[in-house]
Amino acid sequence: MAVQTQWYKDGVFYQIWPRSFKDGNDDGMGDLYGVIEKLDYIKSLNVDGIWFSPLYPSPGADCGYDISDYMDIAAEFGGMEAFKTLLYEAHARGLRIIMDLVVNHTSDEHEWFQKSRQRIDPYTDYYIWRPEKPDGKLPNNWNSMFEGGTAWQWDDVRQEYYLHLFAIKQPDLNMDNPLVREEVKKVLKFWLDQGVDGFREDVITFISKAEGLPNDLPIPGAAGILKYNHGPHIHEYLQEFRRDVLSHYDCMTLAEAPMVSPRKALRYISEKNPKKHDIDMMIQFQCMCADCLFTDYVPLRFSLRRLKRAFRKWQTKLYGRAWNMLYLENHDHPRVISRYGSEKYRTESGKALAVSYLFQQGTPFIYQGQEIGMINWRPESTSMYEDVQTVNQHVNDREKKRLKLYHRASRDSARTPVQWNAGKNAGFSDHEPWFYVNENYQEINVEAEEQDPESLLNFYRKAVALRKSLPVVRDGKYREYRKRSGKLYVYERYMKKRSSNAPDPGRLLVIASFSKKPQEMKLPKGFDAGKANLLLGALSGEQEAGFRETGVLRMPPYGAYVFHFDS
Ligand code: NOJ
Repeated sequence: MAVQTQWYKDGVFYQIWPRSFKDGNDDGMGDLYGVIEKLDYIKSLNVDGIWFSPLYPSPGADCGYDISDYMDIAAEFGGMEAFKTLLYEAHARGLRIIMDLVVNHTSDEHEWFQKSRQRIDPYTDYYIWRPEKPDGKLPNNWNSMFEGGTAWQWDDVRQEYYLHLFAIKQPDLNMDNPLVREEVKKVLKFWLDQGVDGFREDVITFISKAEGLPNDLPIPGAAGILKYNHGPHIHEYLQEFRRDVLSHYDCMTLAEAPMVSPRKALRYISEKNPKKHDIDMMIQFQCMCADCLFTDYVPLRFSLRRLKRAFRKWQTKLYGRAWNMLYLENHDHPRVISRYGSEKYRTESGKALAVSYLFQQGTPFIYQGQEIGMINWRPESTSMYEDVQTVNQHVNDREKKRLKLYHRASRDSARTPVQWNAGKNAGFSDHEPWFYVNENYQEINVEAEEQDPESLLNFYRKAVALRKSLPVVRDGKYREYRKRSGKLYVYERYMKKRSSNAPDPGRLLVIASFSKKPQEMKLPKGFDAGKANLLLGALSGEQEAGFRETGVLRMPPYGAYVFHFDS
């Protein structure tokens, strides 16, 4: 057993979606050479580690989430040699490396599947195969999340159906087979022995399916989810991975968990009882549903109240019992400024969003391009979209309607190349990029923001450094003010002194306006404006004088502030 130091609690992570981060060998595809080139940039964000979306060999049906070899790095990303250099160079800069573990499914081109479909042992039962029913019906009513229909695909070779909760090219593994669990453990061990620091585990709560694969309620597009999410053996399998492999390394695990509530999360994460501690953190989706119903494809009007409710629940219910993972963007959602903020007030709303989550308790993640305020991509035709999830949505709708929905909801908005400068292909590559560059790159890019001290990029740098310098952000409690406001998000972080001679950790008051109009707010009781220390955000001389005198903060559209007070 290794000592688990929980180092992730002090860290901030940066997520890289490798195809679109930076092309280092000018073939149009992002790669590890590009990442190595940009390690100093990543370090300059004051983050402590990188989560890589899959780097493994893959046919690319789901941009790497369909893996054909778990123990290698794709040649297009630079292969194992480039990975070893990356790992060495990242560690030399104090940056940890987190890999994506995708074991709910493999690619259909994985050797295991190729042998399984031919019933070659020991692979025969590596996947979930079912014969045709005598009445010709499908094995059950489960849906594929990506194909817009059944989750069963007929295989001519084996003459049976196989289950694929995602794309047809992503057959689900049969985790009930102990041999499959041994394979997962081998994969974990392989990467930990290479020196990686942990795993983000893709839809890991889906790996244990209900016995007998019974029909589910006919939830449109998601039938089955109540039968395979948080399934009967999930805790047992996660414990097995922990006991046999993970506990022998000082590593961290982050579980992607669709439809998880704080109460459910507490059954996976228990800081008090190691026997009930399956994983270290969970990626919940509630903070991504302030403008939609369960999925980005059922859009609603953005509601700050909904967002605050989600934040509040996770901050208060996990406090002292489990650890939060904090995020507002990743490769699966369109850009957050376009969703929850305002493109007109891009920098301002980007800052309001940043303070909204970066000063909560937990480990924050920043997604590539978020730090420069990249916004949604709006191509002129649905035919320009590539993502397997997007292209199968609403296929029978009229083009205009579909395009509007894709502009709003597609993951491709998060997958356009990172905009490094105003030059050719946004500085991403000298070669024609594998995917479209957002047309706004001449205005929105890293180089331009480097030069502007008030840019969102420089704000992120300051905010991340600040959060790490304040123990109250790591350990303090969370209290909210103006809970019912649909325009203002106001929260406090506070804690008792550790001992009588310890320094006063003070209190933090975070105020963010989500309004396009100026707003006013009187400081809550117990906060003396005269003694407020403004750590982040800007007040003009006039604004400040008025504030000190009256305790009323007058804010421009999307004003964002972090104040410190003595306890
Ligand atoms: C969740 C991943 O984040 C997403 O990108 C992927 O398409 C699905 N899981 C399937 O692996």
